[in-house]
Amino acid sequence: MASAGNGGGGALKRSMGPLRVQYYIVMGAVAAAVVLATLRYMPGPAIPATAAAAASTTTTTSSIGGGVVRSAQAAAAAAAEEEGEEQAQEEGRKKKRKKGDGVVLFNFGDSNSDTGGVAAVMGIRIAPPEGRAYFHHPTGRLSDGRVILDFICENLGTPHLSPFMKPLGSNYSHGVNFAPSRAPRPRRELPPSRWTCRWTSEAAPIDEKAFPDAIYTMDIGHNDINGVLHLPYHTMLEKLPPVIVEIKKAIERLHKNGARKFWIHGTGALGCMPQKLSMPRDDDHDLDEHGCIATINNVCKKFNSLLSEALDELRLTLKSSTIIFVDMFAIKYDLVANHTKYGIEKPLMTCCGHGGPPYNYDPKESCMTSDKYLCKLGEKFISWDGVHFTDAANGIVASKVLSGEYNIPRVKLTSLVPKAKSDD
Ligand SMILES: *[C@@H]1O[C@H](CO)[C@@H](O)[C@H](O)[C@H]1NC(C)=O
Ligand SMILES: *[C@@H]1O[C@H](CO)[C@@H](O)[C@H](O)[C@H]1NC(C)=O
Repeated sequence: MASAGNGGGGALKRSMGPLRVQYYIVMGAVAAAVVLATLRYMPGPAIPATAAAAASTTTTTSSIGGGVVRSAQAAAAAAAEEEGEEQAQEEGRKKKRKKGDGVVLFNFGDSNSDTGGVAAVMGIRIAPPEGRAYFHHPTGRLSDGRVILDFICENLGTPHLSPFMKPLGSNYSHGVNFAPSRAPRPRRELPPSRWTCRWTSEAAPIDEKAFPDAIYTMDIGHNDINGVLHLPYHTMLEKLPPVIVEIKKAIERLHKNGARKFWIHGTGALGCMPQKLSMPRDDDHDLDEHGCIATINNVCKKFNSLLSEALDELRLTLKSSTIIFVDMFAIKYDLVANHTKYGIEKPLMTCCGHGGPPYNYDPKESCMTSDKYLCKLGEKFISWDGVHFTDAANGIVASKVLSGEYNIPRVKLTSLVPKAKSDD
């Protein structure tokens, strides 16, 4: 990873100043480290090659139970119109944004917080119905709307973060999103330098003070656990500590370079994901009272407790830092266990998938293929595509993240924001 440290050229230094170059290179390297750590045990791609191919062809999307039926082409045309609408929403947020002044967020994670990075770098066309519930057109996010990070940005009064791989129109004045989706395998081979060169060519109006004041968020664990699930239970558990070590090192590296505020999300309840539940099993003895796979959830809980312990250690060793652990498992498991409270009828079923109940998930088909089984617009689902959450679910999760109730220590994200000239 260290080799990325010399990646900046002379022209780059002139345009950005030495300090910024240093930070960007460090963060690019950390992003790469986090990515590589999370890809190490990664199984096959979540977006099958056929899905990417299908995404670029015109398909007619039908939906079950009287939902919207429209062609991808029509959707694309509509998307152009709706772009204006989105801009208007962005304007509205800008007005409220006074409180967001001075907030800078750097996010490291997987597809659960990707705001379009992988689609941009891989040239993958994410097609409708992706984005249908909120943006009304695909944005590169693997969801029908916003990811948790988007809600967090909204709450802080900042714009949605630009993915750092997005070549055009990115605005990094409030931070950068380094999160990649679970992309097809080739990106595993991307050398770390590729992660730093792209965005350093962008003008980034973040001043020196912004780096220690910035909030460094990580949303991790899903891919690591995914990658070990084929192993016997005790072997799975043995694979976790090395991943935690990588995460710890990444945090230490950021701290060494001035980062002070860390906001770390653990992994969710993967054993409740339709993708996992639809895997063939001999019998149901491993299902818990809510229908989730107990063994997988135990691995998730173990990962989170190791992560939380590592953060406890870091709090003692990293001077003047604030390190928050967010128990995503508790938040996401509550969503399943208490689903009716949240207006969700089928907590274990995918909104956009294949095969219908009980899980509506087929690993060989994606949400973007033509014969999908799509839930009604407005019907509340947790899972959008069997792996990623819906806009509705992400909104609930985000409000819990922001409540501080599930955090160690129990502080709110807003308390990490530097006191700005606020007028509201
Ligand atoms: C980026 O966003 C900030 C804050 O919203 C804004 O002031 C600035 O003009 C934007 N820069 C560009 C190049 O759009
Ligand atoms: C479900 O909600 C109740 C009441 O809020 C809470 O006590 C319980 O812990 C929740 N269950 C889970 C699994 O989170």
